[in-house]
Amino acid sequence: MGLLGSLAMLVLVLVCFEQLPDVGAQSTRSKARALDVLLQEFAYKGFIVGPKTGTIYKGNAPSNLTGIEIAALRLRSGSLRRRGFSMYNEFEIPIGIAETPYVERLVLVYQNLHNWSTRYYELPNHTYLAPVLGLLAYDGSDLSATNLQELNINATANPILIKFQDVKSAPDGTVAKCVSFDLHGSSNFSNITGGNTCSAFQQGHFSIVVESTAPGPGPAPVPGPVSPQPSPTPIPSSQGEKKSNKKVWIIVGSVLGGLVLLLLLSLLVLWVRKYKQKKRMQGMERAAEAGEALHMASVGASKAPAATVTRTQPTLEHEYAP
Ligand SMILES: *[C@@H]1O[C@H](CO)[C@@H](O)[C@H](O)[C@H]1NC(C)=O
Ligand SMILES: *[C@@H]1O[C@H](CO)[C@@H](O)[C@H](O)[C@H]1NC(C)=O
Ligand SMILES: *[C@@H]1O[C@H](CO)[C@@H](O)[C@H](O)[C@H]1NC(C)=O
Ligand SMILES: *[C@@H]1O[C@H](CO)[C@@H](O)[C@H](O)[C@H]1NC(C)=O
Ligand SMILES: *[C@@H]1O[C@H](CO)[C@@H](O)[C@H](O)[C@H]1NC(C)=O
Ligand SMILES: *[C@@H]1O[C@H](CO)[C@@H](O)[C@H](O)[C@H]1NC(C)=O
Repeated sequence: MGLLGSLAMLVLVLVCFEQLPDVGAQSTRSKARALDVLLQEFAYKGFIVGPKTGTIYKGNAPSNLTGIEIAALRLRSGSLRRRGFSMYNEFEIPIGIAETPYVERLVLVYQNLHNWSTRYYELPNHTYLAPVLGLLAYDGSDLSATNLQELNINATANPILIKFQDVKSAPDGTVAKCVSFDLHGSSNFSNITGGNTCSAFQQGHFSIVVESTAPGPGPAPVPGPVSPQPSPTPIPSSQGEKKSNKKVWIIVGSVLGGLVLLLLLSLLVLWVRKYKQKKRMQGMERAAEAGEALHMASVGASKAPAATVTRTQPTLEHEYAP
């Protein structure tokens, strides 16, 4: 049982280590989702009393998120579908937008994360050439509502166009790409059109990126304890190698960790066994010292000592007496 338990532990440890990268991704996503919730609340606060439909209201992001730009636009859903909305900051919204579930009025919340982009939308291996922009749709029936669920909006005819301003130029030899993040946190790349335009068929977050070639601003590779040959030129495509190296180390680490755990557990099991044995011995010694307690059996009205088995039960003699 002890061995089985240790093995189970080992498997658990291995599984935990394998899951680590996923856990990281998840926390990044939940951070971004929490930001969406907060920005919805603050964007709605930007509406004045009795806001006009079709007017863009700039909101103020919370003070601990200075630099993020938000806005809110309230539209009748029928009007959005028939006419679209030609320019909502960088977003050009075409005709044919359908939302699920259906609402009569909806609010489109705009986000420009500016210098917070990388904090909330980490994209390993890539450099942002433009800020991350968000376009999310909510029910517009109650403008004091918080914690709203996003509506699903689909562009059924033409795509929504995102015309980025002030896109940084891509370094020589690299190709800038559009990136989109859906609300589940998965990213997708597509081609830029016209130098600065991305397209989307659904709501989400969008930006323009390039793949970073040199080891970028991320954590520098940890140098080995002894490096006898410092390579004069960086090896261009060491990223994949590094990743698999990391994986190997994680596996080796978890196996070693598991073995150590196994050892500790076995020791624990042994110790517990020894302890129990010792306890039992002590108990027996004590019993011996006190003299073996004899079982008392009721015989008639009085009690008489009786051994547990083997011996015949004692009886009162006068019962046989004539
Ligand atoms: C920023 O402040 C808001 C309240 O105004 C709070 O709910 C939120 O958690 C804070 N966010 C961060 C990232 O500190
Ligand atoms: C972004 O810039 C603002 C000032 O414009 C600053 O207050 C804020 O701390 C910056 N955010 C980050 C994540 O650096
Ligand atoms: C929009 O697309 C999503 C998935 O792509 C789908 O579940 C939803 O039903 C669609 N909504 C409409 C109104 O077409
Ligand atoms: C870097 O990008 C390449 C190509 O997109 C990918 O294969 C690799 O896994 C990425 N590395 C990391 C650490 O994400
Ligand atoms: C990425 O976008 C393309 C084109 O819109 C689509 O066909 C593909 O399914 C998307 N991939 C993911 C992972 O969402
Ligand atoms: C993106 O552009 C490249 C060439 O620049 C082309 O080969 C590729 O097919 C394009 N992808 C899409 C989805 O249009």
